[in-house]
Amino acid sequence: MFITFEGIEGSGKSTSLTLLAQELERRGFDVLRTREPGGCGLGRAIRPILLDARTRCLNMRAELYLFLADRAQHVAEVIRPALEAGQIVLCDRYTDSTLAYQGYGRGLDPEKLRRINEMATGGLVPDLTLLMDLPVGLGLERAGLRNQRQGTVLSEGRFDAESMDFHERVRQGYLALAEEEPQRIACINAEQRPEDVLMQSLSAVEDYLGRSGLSLRP
Ligand code: TYD
Repeated sequence: MFITFEGIEGSGKSTSLTLLAQELERRGFDVLRTREPGGCGLGRAIRPILLDARTRCLNMRAELYLFLADRAQHVAEVIRPALEAGQIVLCDRYTDSTLAYQGYGRGLDPEKLRRINEMATGGLVPDLTLLMDLPVGLGLERAGLRNQRQGTVLSEGRFDAESMDFHERVRQGYLALAEEEPQRIACINAEQRPEDVLMQSLSAVEDYLGRSGLSLRP
């Protein structure tokens, strides 16, 4: 089973991913946690170019292809082998990030983005996507505090430094994607306490499994 986590900066994806992974492991599942960009060796080399606030003049198409190079390698080297080995893969960001950020945020053509996403992934679509939704102001405040705490304001802050308008377009883009694909994308209220986000995430996983005639072992 392939589950992706999506959302704006500071939406708590990483915390929610860790909590869901721990809960699934507690129930006896074999879970692989990974992320984009940076879930494979190539991606770890690309990540600083994409996220460092000191990266100047990165053309938006060059930015796009760097995300896709990371994704193509990550799917081939990490995600597909794990799925084939029967693991549950939890991935922090995937194809919907490209639609939300490069599409709704930067204004690139969504149909073209869908096609190159498909080319990069060989058509691998998540079984379930958990969209962590919260107001942009709150997300940016949380992300800013985290970056200060971790000393990553410059090294990871290129997208955080985009305008409020950009982040609002990304959020609205995610919500539009969730409306287009309600079966795949579950919208989770990320303003709740982490325990409640976990309960909502688990019930989305149960719903998906129920639709597939399966269930989570206790
Ligand atoms: P990440 O560490 O996931 O950010 P955070 O966890 O703080 O939200 O950084 C990834 C950044 O890259 C994030 O700002 C979103 C952006 N991004 C895209 O613009 N397109 C993509 O396809 C992906 C995977 C990420």
